[in-house]
Amino acid sequence: MENSVGAVILILGMLLLLAGLVVYASGVGKRAHQPVPEVPSGNPSMERKVAVILGITLVSVLSLVGYGFWEPIRQARAAERQENVSIERGVELYTTLCIGCHGVDGLGAVVPDSEPPRVAPQLNREDLRPKDADEYKKAYELVYKTLQRGRPGTPMPAWGRQDGGTLLDEQIHELTVMITKGDKHVRGEESVWEEVRDEAREKIAHGAPEPQKPEVQLAADLSDEARAGARLLQGKGCIGCHVVGGGVGGQTGPNLSQVQSVAGSRKPGAAAEEYLRESILQPQAFLVPGYAPVMPSFQGQLSDQELGQIIAYLLAPNK
Ligand code: HEC
Ligand code: HEC
Repeated sequence: MENSVGAVILILGMLLLLAGLVVYASGVGKRAHQPVPEVPSGNPSMERKVAVILGITLVSVLSLVGYGFWEPIRQARAAERQENVSIERGVELYTTLCIGCHGVDGLGAVVPDSEPPRVAPQLNREDLRPKDADEYKKAYELVYKTLQRGRPGTPMPAWGRQDGGTLLDEQIHELTVMITKGDKHVRGEESVWEEVRDEAREKIAHGAPEPQKPEVQLAADLSDEARAGARLLQGKGCIGCHVVGGGVGGQTGPNLSQVQSVAGSRKPGAAAEEYLRESILQPQAFLVPGYAPVMPSFQGQLSDQELGQIIAYLLAPNK
């Protein structure tokens, strides 16, 4: 909006300038009719030509400058529109092909017919949508390649045609943009993942199978605090990456069902509770060997009380 106002002002300015020059040029001849006896006047028609040429040159230069300002803005807007179209198509593809394993809200679900039950990871995650341009490129590549080739040896299928899948490169791109821009607001109030949830709910209402939410199985002798912690592991999406009690969970991160027995000796000098707290708030501070640094930080996303409940659950000898 501001830009179009700027463009209008620029064009008006140019027209005004042109009008001024035309008035001047037509005045040149008239002035020459008044006798100016002593001073030898120049050739009036020549002066007029020079003024006109000057005017045309000036207007051309200004138009070029205006175009130079305007064109990148126009291109950026076109790219933005294109991105939004891709995202909308990605939402459609995701709610058709992916909700069964990754869940209606992208928080992960139990892979149908997997035995023991396995959870596909959460895709609605901060680390998959970085704001820094270089980091964004890496996240884009990771998601694109995972989609194209799948993860051999896991339930994640290959979707690219080269690898026997059904999706065109363009469709893989659309899904990738949707996931890596999942917090964008394309349609007003709703974020992309909220759109996914609504669209998925609608498909389920029309007969699509309901994805199975991962349920943490709870041991009978757990304290109330630990039970609350178990519910948080589910609600905050931890279970999408970690197997917890009862053998349900994703395998992107280490199995947490026996973490109480290793937590005290993982990091030299750190007691079990302290280590667990750091693992959740600053996951990159210490990496469990053999795992990628993909766990998001939960700093600011859990209250002290919630953190205490999760730790109580993780420390319980019997989950
Ligand atoms: C049959 C179940 C299943 C379906 C259907 C499925 N996935 Fe997956 N997906 C998985 C599993 C399991 C993993 C974890 C693989 C692993 O352990 O590395 C995964 C991993 C991924 C990852 C990598 C996540 C990460 O953190 O590394 C992405 C991205 C992904 N899936 C996107 C999709 C999209 C988009 C679709 C729909 C086109 C889809 N998946 C359909 C089961 C599935
Ligand atoms: C996107 C996947 C992902 C999510 C979501 C996730 N984690 Fe992790 N987590 C990992 C990976 C990978 C590691 C191993 C690398 C590392 O140490 O950071 C890990 C490590 C850990 C460890 C250390 C385990 C050990 O054996 O030393 C704990 C504890 C942990 N996560 C708890 C949680 C909790 C609690 C949540 C939810 C609030 C959570 N994680 C969410 C992927 C994830």
